[in-house]
Amino acid sequence: MRLFGEKIMDKKLSEKEKLDLFKGFYKLTSLERLKKIQSIIPDLEDAEIDLLLKTSSLELETVNRMIENAVGVIPIPFGLGVNFLINNKVYAVPMAIEEPSVIAAASSAAKMTLPTGGFKTSTTEQIMISQIQILDLEAPEIASSLIIENKEKIIEIANTNHPTLISRGGGAIDVRSRIIDTRIGKMVICELLIDCQDAMGANVVSAMAEEVTPFIEDLTSGRVLLRILSNFSDLRLARASCVISKDSLGGEEFVDNIVAASAFAEADTYRAATHNKGIMNGISAVILATANDTRAIEAGAHAYACKEGYYRSLTKWIKNTDGDLEGSLEIPLAVGIVGGATKTNPIAQIALKIMDIKSAKELAQVAAAVGLAQNFGALRALTTTGIIKGHMQLHSKNVAISAGAKGELIELIAERMIKEENVTFSRAKELIKELK
Ligand code: MEV
Repeated sequence: MRLFGEKIMDKKLSEKEKLDLFKGFYKLTSLERLKKIQSIIPDLEDAEIDLLLKTSSLELETVNRMIENAVGVIPIPFGLGVNFLINNKVYAVPMAIEEPSVIAAASSAAKMTLPTGGFKTSTTEQIMISQIQILDLEAPEIASSLIIENKEKIIEIANTNHPTLISRGGGAIDVRSRIIDTRIGKMVICELLIDCQDAMGANVVSAMAEEVTPFIEDLTSGRVLLRILSNFSDLRLARASCVISKDSLGGEEFVDNIVAASAFAEADTYRAATHNKGIMNGISAVILATANDTRAIEAGAHAYACKEGYYRSLTKWIKNTDGDLEGSLEIPLAVGIVGGATKTNPIAQIALKIMDIKSAKELAQVAAAVGLAQNFGALRALTTTGIIKGHMQLHSKNVAISAGAKGELIELIAERMIKEENVTFSRAKELIKELK
């Protein structure tokens, strides 16, 4: 049924005609955009358009201010990771994620750290790096020295237009310069180090790089090309550690197995990628729940995993002198609690409130603790029952729901399918008929 779509094209549109349809697309309302889409995708139902336009806690108007060509939102489950005691403060941690069992695994992993005091966390200062690429230099060494000699002036210019950041105690604090040898010749990379305090800082950091450009070009007689933050934010680190007693794990052999799993990821890229993906299951879920930039965090994390020149695990698990398991994580976490989508998105604001977060440093520490817990949860499952069992509990419910089960039937069918070791859509359909 179509309420929105006007007369649908009778003839099939050519690819050129379809492209023409998108001219001025950005000027349309969301509904108008969807009407256009409906005219080239005849299967798109009004009910589906209706679903897209139901933007829940975000007003459609806000969505349109946040991104271009908006036509709706995609809901992601938002849950709470519990049992987190971090630096002696209890947190219920909002996590936005579609993957079953991530929150359950983090919560039960965090619970196992409680008898030993939970998580200890810390951060560096909130320093971001902004890069300025300088080309066409006759003498890169001289240009590079000039930059260092004029550090103070560069910092002064960088800070000129950012009184809010300065009043919060942040701003540009240092300048570095490096010569890199590339396949098209040498270039100088000038880097501003900027204390972003409670902001993630992507915009301010790149703006500062743009603002110092005329001075840098005059100074070096070079040509500035790129001016942009680096997501390899290795001066903005968060650390988390925890101890899990051998007794709560079931004995030293369980400790040894987790240590062996950790050693595998410390030595092998194929394993490290999956190991780190598990860490990011937790971290990215917290980042998304607070409407921070998940891609920036992922980029920083994976670049940091390569800091020795090869890709390795971000966590390390060892057996301590008491025979207990001790884990640690160090990761760049450039997060903000002011500005950006965190401010625009009411759910992100609620997420911060639920955690009673007072600073970007605190948020980074919570995310790091969740990452460590998530990693422990995965390694524990992998070294014991395997992960499929845990996944199946939730997956089977999803299968039951997608087959049409409602209410009590969902649980019933899920349990039956697990028992029968046959978690499939067709079996769920059969069971619906049978049990109804
Ligand atoms: C699945 O999303 C994450 C794991 O693969 C992580 C790991 O293997 O450590 C279970």
